[in-house]
Amino acid sequence: MVLRLSGNRHRLRHRFFTLGAKPLPNKMYSVTRGQKTPSDQIIEVQSLTKKYGQTTVVDAITFGVGHGEIFSLLGPNGAGKTTTIKMLTTLALITSGKATVAGFDVAENPAAVRGCIGLVPQELTADNELNGMENLRLIAKIYHLPDDQARARSQEMLSLVDLESSSDKKVGTYSGGMRRRLQLAMGLIHSPKILFLDEPTLGLDIQTRSKLHEYIQRLNREQGLTIFMTTHYLEEAETLSDKIIIIDEGKVKETGSPSELKERRGSQILTLEVSDGSRDLTGFLQGVQDIAGVTTTVPGTYKMRVSKVENAIPLIVDEVTKRGLKIVDLSLTKPSLDQVFLEITGHSLRDSEGSTSQQRPQMPPESKK
Ligand SMILES: Nc1ncnc2c1ncn2[C@@H]1O[C@H](COP(=O)(O)OP(=O)(O)O)[C@@H](O)[C@H]1O
Ligand SMILES: [Mg+2]
Repeated sequence: MVLRLSGNRHRLRHRFFTLGAKPLPNKMYSVTRGQKTPSDQIIEVQSLTKKYGQTTVVDAITFGVGHGEIFSLLGPNGAGKTTTIKMLTTLALITSGKATVAGFDVAENPAAVRGCIGLVPQELTADNELNGMENLRLIAKIYHLPDDQARARSQEMLSLVDLESSSDKKVGTYSGGMRRRLQLAMGLIHSPKILFLDEPTLGLDIQTRSKLHEYIQRLNREQGLTIFMTTHYLEEAETLSDKIIIIDEGKVKETGSPSELKERRGSQILTLEVSDGSRDLTGFLQGVQDIAGVTTTVPGTYKMRVSKVENAIPLIVDEVTKRGLKIVDLSLTKPSLDQVFLEITGHSLRDSEGSTSQQRPQMPPESKK
């Protein structure tokens, strides 16, 4: 394969040079299986702040990411996710605060940081005029991988993202999902220790999204790769992450595992069905402390939010029995992360989807292949 670096090839090369074209130490070429040891932080962020002029877009955020974790930065459009990723990947200057990535201070030793990380940016960078394999070989060259390694690694990555059969097709003909998959392969070519993914499934259809989730989980599980991703899809953060931090308007609102966040913040939804629908319990239920938002659509069936289940249920059982009714059904549903987000920020994450000009257009579905 001949790589000609002319025209927009130069621009691409330049883009990736800015991302770190330093020869990597040999150990970077092999990924060792990582252990999930949350106390061992591979990313440490202290009061990280970014200002554009007078506007603070990332406001003193502090968090840590453990080796081998899948970590999600969750927040609506404009929350400061991309800006945070840009600072951690050395693409934007830090206004104040401190960040270390793989043990290197981002501000003091950006080149070392760049050598340890892979980035799949929100805006895709693959060259439409080149085919999949050529794009990968180009990135490998930029990272100074020896030819034989570059070839082997490109093959391996194409196979990982199921693009082998399209490797000789121009990227311009790829569907949105195929581009995202190629971009993932490009971010992995130099076997980084940490992979940064900025909204990796934005605008993709559900099937393609879940395929990408599989790759991400496999990379994490089989190769011990630490994943730092941003998303405004709650389900995505919930499905994939060991740890989530929720940010809104540049500030950290909450940190924890998906289940911790739900336990800490979300009330549970209790459904109660009693034997006689003509005897209304709404007034009683509304009067119970720890119960809120009582609704009934079918007579005798009530839905409500419960903050302290252990207090509320005995009271309900007593009252129902006292009234000579029988409980037909009593079930609890864990809150969704969407409810958690609503409780934390006062607005739904979904409300903000597509509400700013930053939203990318919907990509063509995978079936276009
Ligand atoms: N280069 C820039 N100059 C000025 N403001 C910016 C710049 N980049 C981002 N912003 C602003 O910073 C805020 C956070 O943006 P961003 O980090 O892209 O959010 P997210 O990725 O969470 O959608 C937004 O209000 C955005 O308009
Ligand atoms: Mg963004």
